[in-house]
Amino acid sequence: MQNLDENSITEAVIASHECAPDGRLKAIVSCLVHHLHAFAREVGLTESEWDAGIRFLTDVGHATHERRQEFVLLSDTLGLSMLVTAMAHRKPDDCTQATVFGPFFVENAPAYQNGDDIANGAIGEPCFVSGVVRGPDGQPLDGARIEVWQADAQGLYDVQHASDGEQRARGVLHTGPDGRYFFRSIVAEPYPIPHDGPVGRMLRALGRHPWRPAHLHFMITAPGYDRLVTHVFREGDRYLDCDAVFGVRSSLIAPWIRHEGGRSPDGTMMSGPFSTLTFDFILSRSQCS
Ligand code: BEZ
Ligand code: FE
Repeated sequence: MQNLDENSITEAVIASHECAPDGRLKAIVSCLVHHLHAFAREVGLTESEWDAGIRFLTDVGHATHERRQEFVLLSDTLGLSMLVTAMAHRKPDDCTQATVFGPFFVENAPAYQNGDDIANGAIGEPCFVSGVVRGPDGQPLDGARIEVWQADAQGLYDVQHASDGEQRARGVLHTGPDGRYFFRSIVAEPYPIPHDGPVGRMLRALGRHPWRPAHLHFMITAPGYDRLVTHVFREGDRYLDCDAVFGVRSSLIAPWIRHEGGRSPDGTMMSGPFSTLTFDFILSRSQCS
């Protein structure tokens, strides 16, 4: 393995994996080398461009810490997260489609009963959310676990505010025997993904914006069904066709209906404006059940 040149080096690197004990790892890294070298050849990568790329990845590493995952953000903005999600969750057409998880999920969110206000002080116009969780045959699922999280009127998640430790606009509920869930929260607003680091610099250099259309995050689990991680997007949002992380599916867009006041779905008389959102979910049956 001497005198390698620009034509022979790729095969030499791939051959060096010959004794790898993990066949899957060997296949993945060999394929990565194949495409990485092909990419460098195709664009004619110069030494200074290689150097800039290394510095960029170093900055991404330095920007990553316990509360911020800049590498995931890089994957999200390059469409890799959504590609992996789409491949991992090929669902029948009539089942609710999955989308990206995002970095703002928090373990141990507070438990709520149907009808509760999960805003817990988060700022925003009231929004009453309800729907039914069903299986693929249309049967309502009793006791499905629904975890929801969302940004507030400023486009920030609770974890992005200087924290008093309180979890806001997120929580866990369960469907009733009729498959129904309902809760009060606030209207979700569009927001920019964190863009004060190297990924933000990359977006600006590429003439891209960092905005995501308004959405609620849902994670729904029920025994015998695939876990569903998805969003419900707000119809009419200006960023639906240019989501910074490529996560929008048209089947996940729903109208937030605005009311000027009056009786809300939970019977409360509202003196000011509020919105209602109804969205039903259909879970796919898990393969191993
Ligand atoms: C989110 O929707 O919470 C999100 C997804 C990807 C990157 C940043 C935020
Ligand atoms: Fe989000």
